[in-house]
Amino acid sequence: MFTNIVSHRAVALLCLAVFSIAAFAQGADKPFVPRAGMPARDVARLPAEPVMVNKMLELAKAGPGDVVVDLGSGDGRMVISAARHGARGIGVELNPDLVKLSRSTAEKEGVAARTRFVTQDMYDFDLNQASVITLFLDTKINMRLRPRILNLKPGTRVISNTFTMEDWRHDDTIRDETKSSCILNCVAFLWVVPAKVAGTWQLPQGELKLEQRFQMLTGNMNAGGRSVPVAGRIRGDQITIAAADTVEFTGRVAGTEMGGTIKINGVPHGWRAVRIGK
Ligand SMILES: C[S@@+](CC[C@H](N)C(=O)[O-])C[C@H]1O[C@@H](n2cnc3c(N)ncnc32)[C@H](O)[C@@H]1O
Repeated sequence: MFTNIVSHRAVALLCLAVFSIAAFAQGADKPFVPRAGMPARDVARLPAEPVMVNKMLELAKAGPGDVVVDLGSGDGRMVISAARHGARGIGVELNPDLVKLSRSTAEKEGVAARTRFVTQDMYDFDLNQASVITLFLDTKINMRLRPRILNLKPGTRVISNTFTMEDWRHDDTIRDETKSSCILNCVAFLWVVPAKVAGTWQLPQGELKLEQRFQMLTGNMNAGGRSVPVAGRIRGDQITIAAADTVEFTGRVAGTEMGGTIKINGVPHGWRAVRIGK
């Protein structure tokens, strides 16, 4: 009798074990389905609307030769779309399930060779390899990333879905025109990392002193014993400065040198300047 009970129990336990293993195996096979609003450490998951993915990549003019890094890449849609535009894409995402899903979608879409997904905290990721950075985070996180972004190579483009960089005004913006009112996921901003040009520059004609606040420039041109206020703008390494109403410098900055074309009363000449002080 006792042996009978024991053997029944053993069979029951065995059945339970087999059932549990089968159930576990089935759970493991079940595809991971990401949910909007899924909690995450710094910002909850909310995927960019497909129209915004395209508009953001257009705003960045992302294409072959670019490395597009999406910080907090979610299901990988931005990176995969960048690869479809001919760029190389890197997704940085804390959630390993989303990284796994991104890799398998990239495989299915035939762009796996141009994409890479890493399970990593975005704050630890080396941004120097990016020519384009896409963000759909929040203003607080943008502001935490901002000092690092401002130290990247001039010309690096940064596009943020919805959220700004506060007093660093954007260089350009796009909006999903199909939405009559827009709060979230329907507007994006572009910043182009400006070269650092604050300081004193020597030109054959005189001395140019520049102050810089992000991409905006102010200062003075001192020539022939006169000082004329100047104002300008820098987008990546492309500089434009106006002095009085009649003089406009346009050109390119390369480290401690810059130069290009100066128009005086509409007549073009060449100009070149060398930095002589910070
Ligand atoms: C609003 S979603 C944006 C997803 C994607 N970029 C898009 O536009 O569809 C933000 C993503 O950031 C991820 N995330 C949050 N904090 C992170 C961190 N510190 N490092 C990496 N990823 C993070 C979340 O898991 C989530 O997938």
